[in-house]
Amino acid sequence: MAQLGPTGVSADALRVTDGRTGKNYELPIVDGAIRALDLRQIKVADDDFGLMAYDPAFQNTASCQSAITFIDGDRGILRYRGYPIQELAGTKSFLEVSYLLQNGELPSAEQAQAWNAEIINHTFIHENIKRFIDGFHHDAHPMGILVSTVAALSTFYPEAKQIRDPAIRHRQIVRLIAKMPTLAAFAYRHAMGLYYAYPDDDLSYVGNFLNMMWRATQLKYQPNPVLEHALDTLLVLHADHEQNCSTSTMRLVGSSEADPYSAMAAACAALYGPLHGGANEQVLRMLQTIGRAEDIPDYIRRVKAGELRLMGFGHRVYKNFDPRAQLIKQIANEVFEVTGPSPLLDIALEVERIALEDEYFISHKLYPNVDFYSGIIYLAMGIPMEMFPVLFAIGRTPGWLAHWEESLLDPDQKIGRPRQLYLGEPERHVRA
Ligand code: SDX
Repeated sequence: MAQLGPTGVSADALRVTDGRTGKNYELPIVDGAIRALDLRQIKVADDDFGLMAYDPAFQNTASCQSAITFIDGDRGILRYRGYPIQELAGTKSFLEVSYLLQNGELPSAEQAQAWNAEIINHTFIHENIKRFIDGFHHDAHPMGILVSTVAALSTFYPEAKQIRDPAIRHRQIVRLIAKMPTLAAFAYRHAMGLYYAYPDDDLSYVGNFLNMMWRATQLKYQPNPVLEHALDTLLVLHADHEQNCSTSTMRLVGSSEADPYSAMAAACAALYGPLHGGANEQVLRMLQTIGRAEDIPDYIRRVKAGELRLMGFGHRVYKNFDPRAQLIKQIANEVFEVTGPSPLLDIALEVERIALEDEYFISHKLYPNVDFYSGIIYLAMGIPMEMFPVLFAIGRTPGWLAHWEESLLDPDQKIGRPRQLYLGEPERHVRA
């Protein structure tokens, strides 16, 4: 017998009265939510479709149940499989965190070694993909190349369509995590007119990425360990973020049982948008536009007038602070020890100081997000702005794939197909 609440209604239900009919309904509350389908029983007539919930941009809609990442936007909490991001960033490698997201537990030393070897063994891409990349214009945006080459990978691994086979799923997950840095570096090398520096399996996951980005005439590239660790930590901080735009896209495309390469190409495309993963590149362009500290007040004035957005500020979920932004700020200091100070950092720090004291940003709950400082670090490492969202995509790959597989295995899930409120023309007829 369900426990009764103060009004005599069962404590784990929502009681509603339909004003149109006077009828009462009890909608069960489970895990802090009602099932939207339970609204459909609320009708004005037997042939009525029933009520729907209207929620543009899904601002208050749980599209799934998930055990991967937990965010508390008001308290600035971010946990991967229950571990606070502060305990993972800087102490666990990106590949260890990728294993955690995928499998639900941190790997043992043996599991980490086997996982690392498996990934490193799949870093090469088919030679034809090089020719595919060669077909792009010299100034093609690397995100456009990445979206295309991730989709192209689906044509090289037709077995990936067998999404219900665990071993085949695992192999594609390994291939995608392994090949993203190679696709990213090759896109950069194409833009620079440089030869494609092949993967070096003696290096770490991030060391190998830096090798493929920067190797010149040296036979063996030796990554700077401080920059290698900083970049690995940045990838950890980007690894997952529950139902963000690109991850929701991965889940939705995956729900049609498309292969994971096609689903991830769609996720990359969603990430490319300047309101999402493209923001880190836009932050740098904004800081360069501002140019001097004395010009910040005028830029802030234009933002408050609604002319511009302060890129790298604000978040749909975090309304106090983005814990990742705080951790990235700490990494900046380590990197600048090696690369030298960045004049843009001074401007960014001043923008943050002014914004955090300004009533507009306080009342709108706008704080620096993950994108505000990451670009300054990448630039200091010599990575061009266009590559910033590409780095975000490398980092988010394990998160996308973990959600893709979780969704496929969720008995509650089926092909995603939202409804709409039709406000168009009633039936009408073409005049003879
Ligand atoms: C990421 O979802 C995720 O988890 C994303 C992400 C991840 O890890 O996957 O965290 C990564 O995408 C971080 C966000 C990067 N984007 C930016 O930095 C772009 C700038 N920020 C925004 O455009 C905006 O803040 C969003 C897109 C991040 C969030 O937008 P919301 O929640 O839809 O809020 P909104 O656009 O409805 O804005 C609410 C109000 C508006 O003012 P009013 O019309 O109510 O007066 O806040 C204002 C907006 O104008 N506002 C801003 C602002 N962001 C919101 N005003 C100035 N500058 C901004 N950056």
